Amino acid sequence: MLLNKNIIIGVTAGIAAYKSAYLVRLLITAGANVKVIMTPSAVNFITPLTLSTLSKNPVLIQFQNDTNGQWNNHVELGLWADAIIIAPASANTISKMANGICDNLLLATYLSARCKVYIAPAMDLDMYQHPATIENLKRLKSFGNSIINPGTGELASGLFGEGRMAEPAEIKSHLLKSLSKQNYFYCKKVMVTAGPTYEAIDPVRFIGNHSSAKMGFAIAEEFANQGAEVTLICGPNACKTINPTIKRIDITSAEELYHAAINVFKTTDIAILSAAVADYKPATVAIKKIKKTSETKSIELVPTKDTLEALGQLKKTNQLLIGFALETDNELENAKAKIKKKNLDFIVLNSLNDAGAGFKTDTNKITIINKNNKIIKFELKSKVDVAKDILDVIKKDLKA
Ligand code: CTP
Repeated sequence: MLLNKNIIIGVTAGIAAYKSAYLVRLLITAGANVKVIMTPSAVNFITPLTLSTLSKNPVLIQFQNDTNGQWNNHVELGLWADAIIIAPASANTISKMANGICDNLLLATYLSARCKVYIAPAMDLDMYQHPATIENLKRLKSFGNSIINPGTGELASGLFGEGRMAEPAEIKSHLLKSLSKQNYFYCKKVMVTAGPTYEAIDPVRFIGNHSSAKMGFAIAEEFANQGAEVTLICGPNACKTINPTIKRIDITSAEELYHAAINVFKTTDIAILSAAVADYKPATVAIKKIKKTSETKSIELVPTKDTLEALGQLKKTNQLLIGFALETDNELENAKAKIKKKNLDFIVLNSLNDAGAGFKTDTNKITIINKNNKIIKFELKSKVDVAKDILDVIKKDLKA
């Protein structure tokens, strides 16, 4: 589950900093990409060289990189991270985090981050039990941060009590537990189709459509970000996948899409078909470029294979099949008819009559209809947010 996850480990000034080295090692071994940010005083407790060697990345301490004068961009770091773990988190750093103080790179990155933040306090028992620390930790919890409670034992001061930083293995298992809750689709096998298909007329011409594939790519990303193993079958497009775990299969024609999908569907839990597949293709494909003449020409078209309908016939009870419907008129009735005809669990309807919906745009306005004809309408949103809505509907269905 940690494979290719981007994790920032924040190291603050405390004796327990020696355990951070082992934590970095554990996360790297599990396949995560790790970057370490230290507070300036933390370097008195463990060397940046140890942490950079183990993390395979330069350790970041200051806003400006001493060697090349470049800015260590805390905003980029915050957005890069899938998780931030502050271990050890000193009383001083905890207090600054709770109050929005931003006087070092780690604190600026914390304030810029959108991901979950895990805090492993480490301090002497009286400091840990001080009402100020208790209040600060409560405050951090209320921000949505996760506190990894310290253990009880002998402390660096020689006193005995609560305040020892959790062991690296405990921090790792806390992280895994938390991620599996966030990763609702962990281990689910998901197939997404996206983009147009091109049906060849001759070696240089084809019948296609305006699909940009953006909606399908957004769905694939969202599933992958929530832990699913995604196979994305896509027609010609200019999109790029971001999540490295997405397996991409490029196809050109409806026939190629059909064969790829039938094959992948055998091991799929959830299939969502957003591709704008050509319904017809030329009956024959000219081997050489068709030359221009003054005569009128016509192309005989024959139907393509309907992949979604074929999957509807193959579908087993433990598989979820979701189609898209792009309509220009009589939208709801047409979409409902497709649910029946293609044996779907849901259909996602978008109408070309809605401004900002459909092909090429970065936004979409959808209505989801389930097999019992329950209708849920959504506002116009970015395709990324539309993808989140679609996944939420699927989650509710799986829980029901
Ligand atoms: N679809 C498919 N294979 C096809 C045609 C469509 O898998 N040969 C899928 C699309 O990916 C979409 C759904 O079927 O999920 C509905 O596509 P749409 O074009 O809206 O409907 P059609 O079934 O093609 O019917 P019509 O064009 O008459 O509306």
